Amino acid sequence: MRFLHSTLAKIVATAVGLLVLIGGGALAFVRSGIYDVSASSKDNPYLAAALHATYEASLHRHGGRDIAPGDLLSLENVRAGARMYDANCATCHGAPDSPLSAVGQGIQPAAPSLLAAQRRNKPELMFWVIKHGVNMTAMPSFGKTQSDQTLWQVAAFIYAERGVSKEQYDGMVHGVSSSGTAAPSARIASGAHAQ
Ligand code: HEC
Repeated sequence: MRFLHSTLAKIVATAVGLLVLIGGGALAFVRSGIYDVSASSKDNPYLAAALHATYEASLHRHGGRDIAPGDLLSLENVRAGARMYDANCATCHGAPDSPLSAVGQGIQPAAPSLLAAQRRNKPELMFWVIKHGVNMTAMPSFGKTQSDQTLWQVAAFIYAERGVSKEQYDGMVHGVSSSGTAAPSARIASGAHAQ
């Protein structure tokens, strides 16, 4: 019994000692300033891979539960989504054959080219990202200011128009509506209705 007690005591003491050491080491690392937080240099590839895997797993666990509206891919929705995209997303995600903005070039990690032909852009998953954003990256949570309808429209656009050409894109964004008037800008007004 005494033998057992002393072995147990040793294991507990070693475990506590190790925890203190790891905690102290982590604190020393944080306070040392050794880690380079600048956005001008790329993340360490192992850290980038770990962060991306965390994102993918989180997206598949939490996303995809919202039900898309029945008329998701209607012309009206896709066009409204195009205007929303151009006004609020192209800054970071780019537009076909156009130079990326200074903001888009400066953020780290960089935003993916959502309109690339080879992307899948499953609307239910993309809706979740657009609504909630991605913590610790530049991807904002648009659900804070935009209605679900607006978010489904932009999800519909990036799904329906993968691989879109510059001409088609410009036509959709600056196109003339059925009433013959130029399409209004979809730029977000601050304090807009949230849902
Ligand atoms: C200020 C920059 C910025 C703006 C503006 C922005 N995004 Fe993003 N977005 C990002 C970044 C950075 C990522 C990548 C996050 C990561 O690494 O996980 C991202 C990721 C995404 C993803 C996930 C892509 C994937 O492969 O899983 C979607 C979808 C998306 N954004 C849609 C949008 C839409 C739609 C808008 C406009 C309504 C928008 N974003 C505006 C920076 C931005």
